[in-house]
Amino acid sequence: MSPLPELPTTPESLLPLVLKAMQATPDARLRQLMASLTTHLHQFVLENQVTEAEFERAVAFVTGIGHATGAEKNEVILASDLFGISTLVMLLNNPGGDGDSHAALLGPFWRANAPDCEPGDNIARGDTAGVPLEVRGTVHGADGRPLAGAVVDVWQASPVGLYETQDPNQPDMNLRGRFSTDAEGRYFLRSVYPAGYPVPTDGPCGELLRAQLRQPLRPAHLHFMVSAPGHRVMVTQVFPQGTEFLDRDPVFGVTAVLVGQFDSVDEGGQPQYRLAHDFHLSAGETVFPHPPIP
Ligand code: BEZ
Ligand code: FE
Repeated sequence: MSPLPELPTTPESLLPLVLKAMQATPDARLRQLMASLTTHLHQFVLENQVTEAEFERAVAFVTGIGHATGAEKNEVILASDLFGISTLVMLLNNPGGDGDSHAALLGPFWRANAPDCEPGDNIARGDTAGVPLEVRGTVHGADGRPLAGAVVDVWQASPVGLYETQDPNQPDMNLRGRFSTDAEGRYFLRSVYPAGYPVPTDGPCGELLRAQLRQPLRPAHLHFMVSAPGHRVMVTQVFPQGTEFLDRDPVFGVTAVLVGQFDSVDEGGQPQYRLAHDFHLSAGETVFPHPPIP
């Protein structure tokens, strides 16, 4: 009688067999990532003594985030945001020289090809009501000097907390624009003060947030994508100091350096905000992300 092959007998005896089955993977990085992920997953199941009902529930969640994903919304990315994984990957890959990352999540609402704007143009198109906001700053290159011809792509939610793609009452490309820096590396844009808004809660991620008694509102913010040839594309967000939910962002997107000084001023009886914000680019390849929505 030929000897029996190696077979699992106990929960703990299964992992070595699974790892052995994967060890011939020719792609070394895939081999390492899958072995590590498998090890962590087995440890998770054993440590928590996961039941069959809980496993079914987990499968239903993963299936659900796939089904809820489409042209308008990516529920898979949202799930990774809510677990802090998107921010973790971003922080790991974009360390700040001063120990704090100046990058931030791209989020699901960036659109490529926003209108090209002249300095001082207002990105609040149509009759977008709101408190006026002026944003000025300088883009610095990898050598620390002001960078002419850099592109500052800005997008934001309206004062009612909706991006233009979510709101039939806003004109196409409202609150989006691309500004080039002048010979001194400066940019200048006008807009309206943004509002916070909830992450989508109509899918499995919303159900999870409710089960965890977590609130869904992101703090108000402006999104920026700053680019220039020979430099890495900087994707970031700026949050007004003192705005609500800075410490309860459901996607953990706020770091200390991303909180900007929005000064409240009175312009002839009309209140408005002014933000001064500089960007510092690092040398590297100029690679743009894939737009999450067309
Ligand atoms: C945003 O920054 O726009 C965002 C990020 C993650 C989830 C939802 C929105
Ligand atoms: Fe946003």
